[in-house]
This record gives sequence, C-alpha cells and structure tokens, in this order.
Amino acid sequence: MDLDELKAKALKAIKDAKDELELTNVRNLFLSKKSEINQKMGTLKDLKEDERKSLGQKINETRSAITDAFTQKFNDIKAYNLNLKLKRETIDISLPGAGIKNIGINPLYLVEDEIINIFLGMGYSVYEGSDVETDHFNFELMNIPKDHPAREMQDTFYIDKSLLMRTHTSPAQAHAMEEAKGGPVRIICPGKCFRRDDDDLIHSHQFKQIEGLLIDKNINIGHLEKTLETFVKKLFGEKREIRMRSSYFPFTEPSVEVDVSCDKCGGKGCPVCKGTGYLEILGAGIVNPRVLKLNGYDPKEYSGFAFGIGIERVAILKYGIDDIRRFYTNDIRFLDEFKRR
Ligand code: PHE
Repeated sequence: MDLDELKAKALKAIKDAKDELELTNVRNLFLSKKSEINQKMGTLKDLKEDERKSLGQKINETRSAITDAFTQKFNDIKAYNLNLKLKRETIDISLPGAGIKNIGINPLYLVEDEIINIFLGMGYSVYEGSDVETDHFNFELMNIPKDHPAREMQDTFYIDKSLLMRTHTSPAQAHAMEEAKGGPVRIICPGKCFRRDDDDLIHSHQFKQIEGLLIDKNINIGHLEKTLETFVKKLFGEKREIRMRSSYFPFTEPSVEVDVSCDKCGGKGCPVCKGTGYLEILGAGIVNPRVLKLNGYDPKEYSGFAFGIGIERVAILKYGIDDIRRFYTNDIRFLDEFKRR
C-alpha cells in the first residue's frame, strides 16, 4: 500500500475507534513491529542511497503522523472516561443523613461543668493550663525540688529531661501567679493529669483534676474551709458535711485532706464509707510561703489557699460508679445512663 493511503487509512481508523480497546487494536495494526510501515522500513536497505533517503524520510513522517493522532485520541478517550466517572460519582447532598444517635455526656464532663459553674458563681475564673509541662513548673515552682520524695508519689511520664506530662494541675498555680505579677489571684484550672500508676479499679494513667488557687491579703484556713464547704453543699446537697484531716503536700502548709460525709449513712459509718462515715474528695491547704516566694510574692504581704479536686473521685461518689475505667472506654450503654439523669 502506498504510504499516503496507509496514513489516511490509519488516521480514519484512529478517528473511528470508540474506546481504549479498539484504539489499542488500531495501534497494533499500524505501528507494531509486524505493521506494514515497519515492513517498508525493512526494504530500505536494498535501495540506492538517494531513494533510501527520501523514502526513509517519508516513512518517518507517516509514522509520526499516525503516532501523534494516536496519542491525541488516547488522551481524548481518557478525559472522556474521567468526566463520565466524575459525573456518575457525584453524591446527592440533599439526601437525608443516617442520623446521629443522641447519646449521653461522659459523667466526667458533667461533673467538671458543674464544679466549674459553682466556682464561677464564687467569682473564680477558669485558667487553662496545658497537658505538657516543664519540670520547672510541674515540680520546682511547686516546691518539689529534685530528689524530693514527693516526686516518687507522682510517677511521671517524661518526654525528655525537662519536659513531661503534668502529674497534677498544680503547675497552673505557678502560671497564674506569674501572670498576676505579684497581685491577687482567684482561679480554677480543670484539666487532664498523667501518672504511671498501675491500672486497677481506682487508678488510671490519665485522670482529671480541678485546681483552685486564691491569693489575697489576710487569707487564712477559715476562708478555705468555708469555700470548700459551700462547694460541697452546692455539689452534693445541703445535708452533706465536710471534714478536714491533716495531710502533707510540699506546696501547702498546713495541708489537709478533705472528706465529705457519706450519703448512705449520713456520717454514722457503713460499708460504702468503710465504716468511717466520710469519703475523701480533695487535697488542699494554705499556700506554702516558700511557694509564694518562688513565684514572686512577698509572704508577709500576701497569703492564699489552694485545692485540687479529683474529678473521677467526685463522679464516682455522685453517680455510684464502680470502676474508674468506665470513664475512658466510652461504652455507649454506659454513656446512655447519663442522658436520663
Ligand atoms: N496537687 C495535689 C495532688 O495532685 C493536690 C493538691 C492541690 C493539694 C492543691 C493541695 C493543694 O495530689
């Protein structure tokens, strides 16, 4: 076949090809090793120099015209297919959704919100701390120097030598004092804490606290007691009483452990309170003058109190929850309980 004829035939076949498969067949027919064009190439060697040159050129031109047409058509088919696919795969956003099941709120957040509201009502503001802290804020500024035995009590997740996951919300005290620049403070700081505690029914490697700090002139332990009593009665009910037991924290002096009277027996003693009539809910105390000094205060001018409420502890007492792990596994049946309350 004459080269012009061959070219015309090939271009028509390419134009007529309806899909990728047909186009591939056309390509094999006109451009493969066994194609007529290739065979013509084979005959060149028998020709005279000038004939070989002109025919060779012609063959090359024909072949590249066919190749170009093929590439063009191939891209057209691809674009067409893609468009078709995009059109077919559009979603109808006006269709109704699958629906969101309205489950209850995790009791930790219920309790946290309730506690925050009580303290907002007493003029406190919420101070946001961060989960990652420096050794300096978590320990040093809270009067827990290196080698202090209290560091043992708070088995710590370290990120590097000086960064760690905060073991309590108390570093928020130091941040708040820094911001107050030696002036009065009245904050609470809710948040997560982390300790390498064993996983059992009452410990989790992650838990929540609400820190409280009040600094002003002439603050004494009576202010602390009345504040916590008001808080407990608002949270658990007017009939509940608090009891302060002496305790130890490096950042408060004196330090106390605060218990709330048992709901079940009203303080007489029963199995729920293990016969003591009271249940422990928080640690507190008068801000240690050393902490005041470390954080830029003159202890002769200012004094204050601080407390740390264990949110899990309060939620357990308020809702009678038997296993601390229930707070973190987000079992929908468990959460559903808190929709009805
Ligand atoms: N930071 C203490 C703890 O985690 C609790 C606490 C806070 C005690 C403030 C006293 C004052 O155990």
